[in-house]
Amino acid sequence: MARNGDGSEGTQRALRRMAESEPELAARLIVQSLPAAAAKLPEGMSYRLELDGLGAWTVSSFGGRAKVAEVLAGADLNGEAFAISTDAETLAKVASGRNPVGPLMSGRLKLRGRRRKALALRRLEADAGPRDLARLGQRVDADLVFRSLAYAIEPEWTRGHRFTVAYQLVGEGGGTWRVEVDDGRVRVERGLGENADAIVRIRYTDWLALLSGELTPPDAMRLGKTEVEGSIPPVTRLGRWIDRAEGIDGPELEREARQRRRQSENAGSWGSKVTDGASGDAGDPAESRRPRGGLMTYEQLYALWERQNWRAHELDFSVDREHWLVSPAEAQRHTAFSIGSFYVGEERVTADLAPFLLAAPSGEVEAFLATQLVDEMRHAVFFDRWASEVMGLEAGNFRERLHEIEERMLGPWHFLFDDSLREIANRIKDRPDDLELFVEGIVTYHMVTEGVLAMPGQRLMIEYTGDHDLYPGFNQGFRLVEQDEHRHIAFGVRFLKDVCDERPEMKGVITRRLEELLPMAAEVFCPPEADDPSDFVSYGHHSSQIYGFAYQALKRRMAAIGIKIPPPERLMPGPVDFGGLAERRVLAQEAAGS
Ligand SMILES: [Fe+2]
Ligand SMILES: [Fe+2]
Repeated sequence: MARNGDGSEGTQRALRRMAESEPELAARLIVQSLPAAAAKLPEGMSYRLELDGLGAWTVSSFGGRAKVAEVLAGADLNGEAFAISTDAETLAKVASGRNPVGPLMSGRLKLRGRRRKALALRRLEADAGPRDLARLGQRVDADLVFRSLAYAIEPEWTRGHRFTVAYQLVGEGGGTWRVEVDDGRVRVERGLGENADAIVRIRYTDWLALLSGELTPPDAMRLGKTEVEGSIPPVTRLGRWIDRAEGIDGPELEREARQRRRQSENAGSWGSKVTDGASGDAGDPAESRRPRGGLMTYEQLYALWERQNWRAHELDFSVDREHWLVSPAEAQRHTAFSIGSFYVGEERVTADLAPFLLAAPSGEVEAFLATQLVDEMRHAVFFDRWASEVMGLEAGNFRERLHEIEERMLGPWHFLFDDSLREIANRIKDRPDDLELFVEGIVTYHMVTEGVLAMPGQRLMIEYTGDHDLYPGFNQGFRLVEQDEHRHIAFGVRFLKDVCDERPEMKGVITRRLEELLPMAAEVFCPPEADDPSDFVSYGHHSSQIYGFAYQALKRRMAAIGIKIPPPERLMPGPVDFGGLAERRVLAQEAAGS
């Protein structure tokens, strides 16, 4: 069978290797292949092959077919045109491409009869093998085939690989062989041995069907004709090498090279190639912890989510419970109010994110929003655990507890969550293809609700409880919530930047939405007992500090998008102070001064 040059050369190389180590095996292999190899000899031609110590055969061609019959060694020619007598080693060497003149001169190869006819042997198919035999319906000696693998597989292919595969051919003609691959060496032995990585079982007759191509390896597996016990990859790899040895692996090798290139080009998708490794990266461009290097991609933000995952159910509230019990009723009411607006808010942002997820303009955006949806519900569960286990709310289930808290919320909270966020989420649900609407939604959700309002509020409460050793379980959980929120905001900035880069007119949409919402929504910072949203104190901070902190963070994020935001008086309900969020300690200063 003519194949590509590589296969033929490979077969010759294998035969040469075999001729040197196991000449008898090589000779037997050649004799076995004769019915296939001689198929192309001139019709009616007949010759004899005599091998020292192995036997003698008459090979007769019938045009496209050949018959090989064992005869008595040394007998007179009986219709054969000529006879070749030699030893196994010489036959193997000549068959593997050596010039026959040397052996002829030295007498190691003898030719008798009509010598000129012997020239026809040049038409023997040099690489006819077991597959051709099987195709001709001839018996194939499995022992020869398996033992020859040790020579057929190029040592170079096996570099870096170590495994053993045992083959059990079941039924008449069968047997068991183990092929040991050991980093540049292949050894074949009879028997199952021990600790094979895989055992492949197949009926001898089905194995012949595999060889002839009547049955493909995947079909054999699918139909249960091949059974593999143990590890499949070594079996696949060995199968590929066997094909390659016969020069029929070319298309698969090309596919492999093509896919290998593609794989390396695609490596690191979804942030899987972590170079700075930092799960401490906030993602949010308003954060000092954000390393230089621009905004994170959706895929990197997704990977950050996986790295930063945490468990609400494992937080320990045992100390928090004692702190709560010792607090007087009025102090509890204050805490319940500030925690409550987050608690109910987290559930709202979970439900209202669903329409965003459905309307996501790309798969990457959809993937990130799905992670955020999980985060927001985790936040709600964290607060619910605290409300139930620490505050001891009376209601018996999550939704009823939420109702109990929501009734205490004030006007600005309802403006933000009912009139703004729920309203736009509903519109997005109705018009999921409206990109401008989606942009307004992201401004409402990620920039205003999370960025300007939630972020400073949670920072205040985290610092306050942290500085005063209050509610440690809550503090720990809220820090984790804050970490998530920075990632959410980072997504919002990334998304708005991408949209604005493509469609600069969207910058106007963003600014308009900020002006529409912020002056009223920012009043959520104002506690119920204060009556002037432009002048109050909350958690040791004056309103101007809170507004200043919120405004500056917004300004940095908008700058990353390429937007210069309106001055504070157009966005904030009161004066701003850019001095930071340090707790004011007026008395401490006075005492130090006196
Ligand atoms: Fe949240
Ligand atoms: Fe969030």
